[in-house]
Amino acid sequence: MPTRSTVILGTGSYAPERILSNEDLAHMVDTSDEWIRTRTGIRERRIAAPDEAPSDMGVRAAQRALDDAGVRPAEIDLLIVATVTPDMPMPACACIIQHKLGVPTTAACFDLNAACSGFVYSLDTACAMLTSGRYRKALVIGVEKLSAVLDWQDRTTCVLFGDGAGATVIGLSDEPNVGLIGTRLGTSGAEANLLYISHGGTRSPATTESIAARDHCIRMKGKEIFKLAVRAMDETARDILEQHGVRADQISLVIPHQANLRIIEAISQYLELPMERFFVNVDRYGNTSAASIPIALDEARRSGRIKAGDLTLLVAFGAGLTYGSALIRW
Ligand code: UT7
Repeated sequence: MPTRSTVILGTGSYAPERILSNEDLAHMVDTSDEWIRTRTGIRERRIAAPDEAPSDMGVRAAQRALDDAGVRPAEIDLLIVATVTPDMPMPACACIIQHKLGVPTTAACFDLNAACSGFVYSLDTACAMLTSGRYRKALVIGVEKLSAVLDWQDRTTCVLFGDGAGATVIGLSDEPNVGLIGTRLGTSGAEANLLYISHGGTRSPATTESIAARDHCIRMKGKEIFKLAVRAMDETARDILEQHGVRADQISLVIPHQANLRIIEAISQYLELPMERFFVNVDRYGNTSAASIPIALDEARRSGRIKAGDLTLLVAFGAGLTYGSALIRW
């Protein structure tokens, strides 16, 4: 029996109301709008309300994706939430979202932690589970409340990240050569020490001292990560193009992980694809980790930058280190 295609039926996103500008940050730490803009391309980011949990944001994005797809929550039998900032360590954010959305209790619901590559990893997982024939419709959400794990006294990290959620509804189609054409995923755990949250897990549970030292916040060696991000994203993009016999100039739109405009510009140069073929919204959201690609995907679709027949390339990189790419025909 030929394998059925997995297609994106709808997308949605949600950004919290509060905007934190670079100017606002310059009142909080020793930084400036000029430094942040020229080094990262970020102008502002969204910050969730104190009582707004990742599950709340995920539900808002999911509702928009379901509306877009014309799919009811009752039809979903697989729900994957990509996140490194779930509501709590246990149970999974996906279980909380399942209940809030009204997804049936017969659905498989779980979280997936692959940091900023989480959405691409989850997309691949969902598509593999759908093509197994045991699931029919999947909801894949990327959501982060990174503001809750930032050290607001550390200017090297707090200016970079933001909160938000993006979602996609995925189904099966008998039409060949549409939807998810392929994926490449990779990991380099040897560099786990470049981007991490050291405390609050089980190896080093939170203590009074660790909380005082803000050891439950994100720490990053930015310069090293920058170089590895460019190399890994360029390589994974080339690999997937080669694997599927696609030239870079056949890609209508690249949706890269939105960490830093300079990283995106470097990939544009390496792939010899002009910046007009790259979707960029890092200026408005900063780095929202697993939410970054699904938010960008939704905005790209809603702004008419993706048309039927187009080839879109997703490229991600994040803590782990993890990286991955996905090729989609619309
Ligand atoms: O999601 C995937 C993971 N994350 C990433 O992909 C991020 C990758 N890394 C980056 O985007 C960049 O490396 C950063 C934006 C984090 C930093 O940019 P950079 O051009 O690599 O700057 P740098 O770390 O070399 O710092 C240059 C200077 C330093 O001062 P000195 O040592 O030259 O005196 C920093 O202390 O800029 C200073 N600096 C700041 N100054 C003003 C660092 N952060 C700030 C700040 N405001 N917020």
